[in-house]
Amino acid sequence: METTLILLKPDTVERGLIGQVLTRLEQKWLKINGLKMMEMTPELVSEHYDFLADKPFFPKIMSYMTRTPIVAIAVSGANAIATVRMLTGATNPQEALPGSIRGDFGLTIDGNIIHASDSAETAEVELKRFFGGKDIYEYARGFDDVL
Ligand code: CMP
Repeated sequence: METTLILLKPDTVERGLIGQVLTRLEQKWLKINGLKMMEMTPELVSEHYDFLADKPFFPKIMSYMTRTPIVAIAVSGANAIATVRMLTGATNPQEALPGSIRGDFGLTIDGNIIHASDSAETAEVELKRFFGGKDIYEYARGFDDVL
């Protein structure tokens, strides 16, 4: 069983799409273990997107991610990391397939709706970054043993 980190970005909150994205996760039978609204400080954006700090579009990411609160979600399930990335679709909504979250809800790279950890190593670091070992809950569901 894997746990991964998802961020619902400012455009998702502003457009009232939190529920629709959560529904996609739940209907896939992924388990929501943690869910919180929070503001990303410039320091947190710099840490999270450290690998993009030299890119010309980094200032755009900074203003995008700090303009409105985000929703951080810890999600678990069998193969959760790859499964969530599949649901999410390509980074650029222009390239994301219809049926994926970005393909259905996003129009341009400047509002790509959602972030999801891309590997087990990244998920561990990112879960710690956004939840700090707190506010993640384990609980049983009736059908968990068949997943
Ligand atoms: P995310 O999946 O959070 O990972 C890196 C983020 O950088 C990506 O989603 C986009 O929000 C952003 N990003 C990547 N490429 C570009 C680009 N060319 N212009 C603007 N933002 C980008």
